[in-house]
Amino acid sequence: MEFFLDTASIEEIKHYKKLGLVDGVTTNPQLLSKEGTDCLEQIKKIVSIVSGPVSVEVTCTEPHRMVEQAMGLASIAENIVIKVPASTEGIVVAERLKREGIKTNITLVFHPSQAVPFIKMGVEYISLFVGRVEDFGLDNTPHIRTLRSMIDTMQSPTRLLGASIRNPDYLVTAIADGAHAVTVPPACWQKVYTNPMLSQAEREFLESWRRLPPLVRKKYDSLTADMEVAQNAS
Ligand code: G3P
Repeated sequence: MEFFLDTASIEEIKHYKKLGLVDGVTTNPQLLSKEGTDCLEQIKKIVSIVSGPVSVEVTCTEPHRMVEQAMGLASIAENIVIKVPASTEGIVVAERLKREGIKTNITLVFHPSQAVPFIKMGVEYISLFVGRVEDFGLDNTPHIRTLRSMIDTMQSPTRLLGASIRNPDYLVTAIADGAHAVTVPPACWQKVYTNPMLSQAEREFLESWRRLPPLVRKKYDSLTADMEVAQNAS
């Protein structure tokens, strides 16, 4: 299973890479615009530190311009994957890019039906947007299982990418319900580890520990591997 980071920030990529959570990166025009810098230079910086797939979205809307732009973006680095919208224009573009040997990540999939032609042609990734539908009061999590089953039934090499993962529940549901990959925004990982139960339990354990007389806990607190080896040898 692949874990991508949904960001265009170099700082965030470096941070989560150290935690082993960056098998690849997904960007979109909104994420790139947030960086307030030259977008092409930013993409070059991202591919210089990420060896896995880096998804970059087309911004043109007319199919032949989308193809040209995609080919330009794909020429930046071998690990670039082109994000193409799951629209009728997107079908034409994805087919053409497939013939050119360019990998695509079909984005803005809100309903499994949108994905059918793309699964049939065997694109690399289909991004099912889980969180964004919340804005319309809907729950898209059941479609993770549906889309995975469609991919398996159609015996397609396409990989299901759980996208727009806005909270820890969406993250675990996407993994448990069969997504081949998830793309997680840093804000979601922050929610995972700012769990108030974790902080409270950790605080309580350490408060109890600190109530021990200093001499009793000193040996434990200052323990190092060398000290243990020396003691075992004596
Ligand atoms: O890859 C999907 C992502 O870039 C969009 O996420 O949270 O803006 O819906 P979000």
